[in-house]
Amino acid sequence: MIDSAPADRLAVTLETERLLLRPIGREDTPFAVRHFTDPEVYRFMLDDEPITTAEQAAAILAFYVDQPGDTYNRWVLVRKVDRQQIGTCGYHRWNRQHHKAEIGYDLSPAWQGQGYMREAVAAMLAHGFTVMRLHRIEAIVAVANERSAHLLRQLGFVCEGVLRDSFYSGGQFHDHALYARLSTGVA
Ligand SMILES: CC(C)(COP(=O)(O)OP(=O)(O)OC[C@H]1O[C@@H](n2cnc3c(N)ncnc32)[C@H](O)[C@@H]1OP(=O)(O)O)[C@@H](O)C(=O)NCCC(=O)NCCS
Repeated sequence: MIDSAPADRLAVTLETERLLLRPIGREDTPFAVRHFTDPEVYRFMLDDEPITTAEQAAAILAFYVDQPGDTYNRWVLVRKVDRQQIGTCGYHRWNRQHHKAEIGYDLSPAWQGQGYMREAVAAMLAHGFTVMRLHRIEAIVAVANERSAHLLRQLGFVCEGVLRDSFYSGGQFHDHALYARLSTGVA
């Protein structure tokens, strides 16, 4: 099957009941700096050292905006009611040959516990299984990140095992769980 314009399938805006998921852009710099430098946002993101400066946060944004790829993207979550940005989510490691990709997501602490990320990830999954024609969607979660694991289980992901000592951060190794959901169902 010829995949004509994979990047176009990532550069779209998705809509849910309360949110717009639009491709993150330069105009989101003030939000990105606030959001990515928040220690609560980075608490369980152990694949890198914590983001502490505006420059580091801006570099994350530049990665998504300046070199748009066809294997990853990032949406910013915008509340429809007041246009406030509250978090981000997106795909990476999109492998079209094997119809699989990984997801990532982060919500600013003030907006957690209100079901926003469940709403956003559900929309991402629907987009992935239909428009991107994915069969398998993965998420790698620090074993201590119980909220994230709970969210994934609610959305039909299954824990397939633990990747022992898979990331080194803050002077120690951290175990991560591999979660996946298939297009054919929960199990
Ligand atoms: C992981 C993370 C996204 C989870 O956020 P969250 O707000 O707990 O997740 P949800 O959006 O699914 O909210 C769930 C809770 O909102 C509440 N809620 C309120 N209104 C709701 C609504 N309309 N619909 C659904 N849930 C609602 C419920 O209590 C629900 O909990 P429950 O399912 O146990 O009943 C968030 O903790 C986060 O961004 N952390 C920092 C970054 C991070 O760790 N990212 C993941 C890396 S793998």
